[in-house]
Amino acid sequence: MPNPNPIGIFDSGVGGISVLKEIRLLMPGEDILYYADSAHCPYGTQPPENIRQRTIKISQFLINIGAKIIVAACNTASIAGLDYLRQEFQSPIVGMEPAIKPAAKITRNGKVGVLATGVTINGDRFNSLLTRFACDIEVINVPCPGLVEQVEMGLLDTLETTALLRKFLSPLIKNGVDTVVLGCTHYPFLRLLVESIMGPEVNVIDTGCAVAKRLQQVLQEEDLLSDKAPVYATESFYTSGNASQVSQVIKNLWDHPNITVKYIEL
Ligand code: DGL
Repeated sequence: MPNPNPIGIFDSGVGGISVLKEIRLLMPGEDILYYADSAHCPYGTQPPENIRQRTIKISQFLINIGAKIIVAACNTASIAGLDYLRQEFQSPIVGMEPAIKPAAKITRNGKVGVLATGVTINGDRFNSLLTRFACDIEVINVPCPGLVEQVEMGLLDTLETTALLRKFLSPLIKNGVDTVVLGCTHYPFLRLLVESIMGPEVNVIDTGCAVAKRLQQVLQEEDLLSDKAPVYATESFYTSGNASQVSQVIKNLWDHPNITVKYIEL
């Protein structure tokens, strides 16, 4: 039986919109709820316990308003809290992790750079990824404090954002990596800038599309897919931050003029 209930997606802020875009492309008939935890952003410099508490509150909210499945569209929240979320809720939960496995497959020179938050890079789940898939390649991890804030403000190509990125990418250039993993959902919005700094020979990859595919697979397996006509599919946005600012930034990032965001503190 088709299930018309919405998919619940959350992130520390607007980064998860990079995942929402892929989900919408793959599943145009699904209703979507999106929670941007902008008042508590960035997650990547906070103690993992704080992040876990936020993700549990947000997931509970999304489930209360009808979400049939939760997508943690945030590497940091997934690394810090996915196991806890799965223990806490019966609903299926889809998380994400930096694209280490695909990077290890496509690198030609065995040198990969990862841009992510400090919490992601120091997380056990991330280290287990390295052990499982990257033991015979060189991986250079670069935490990027300050970058998420630039995307939250919609400053995608300013001098300051460019200078920050140049600083974070310089150890990767020095080491001659041929593959860069965007290990935070905010960073795909900076892809063009990363590509222009790294040059055309370097692969720049993220996991938004893979997460959308995994979500579709889980919905199929659990018999939760909607059969709505795309024209009736809706998106509802919520934030703990400044609703008008968040809505302005989402409009630009997603290139959709008619978005309203509701303020809801949890
Ligand atoms: N978008 C996030 C991620 O994928 C969170 C970044 C942050 O809030 O520090 O990791």
